[in-house]
Amino acid sequence: METTLVLLKPSCVQRQLIGEIVHRFERRGLRIAGMKMMQLDDAILREHYAHLVDRPFFPTLAASMQTSPVVALALSGVEAVGVVRAMTGFTNGRKADPGTIRGDYAMSNQQNIVHASDSVENAAIELNRFFRPEEIFDYKSGVFDFLYGVGEA
Ligand code: TYD
Repeated sequence: METTLVLLKPSCVQRQLIGEIVHRFERRGLRIAGMKMMQLDDAILREHYAHLVDRPFFPTLAASMQTSPVVALALSGVEAVGVVRAMTGFTNGRKADPGTIRGDYAMSNQQNIVHASDSVENAAIELNRFFRPEEIFDYKSGVFDFLYGVGEA
């Protein structure tokens, strides 16, 4: 079982898509292990996007991420990191496949609705960045036996 970090970005919050996107993750069978609204500051964005701070688009990216609160989600499931990343789609919404979140809701490379951790290692780091340990809940899904076959989880 893995847990991964998703941020519902201001493009999601402002377009009133929070429920719709959370619903897609729930329908897939991912368990919501943590969920909270946060206003991000420069410090956490510089850390979160450390690989991009020298890119020309970083100032507009950081500004766009602060135009409203975001919703941080911790999602659990077997191979949850890869499953959620695949559901997210390519960075640029115009290039993302239909059926993915970005491919269904985004027309932009920056206003692209969601962030999702890109590896198991980064998921652990990012969960720690956005959640305190006691804000992530490890409970058994009531439909667990109907989500996975014997030996899968
Ligand atoms: P990145 O980590 O490359 O992509 P992803 O979100 O798919 O893991 O980029 C992080 C965010 O930076 C991306 O979601 C939106 C923003 N961004 C831009 O604004 N312009 C760009 O050209 C790129 C590559 C990213």
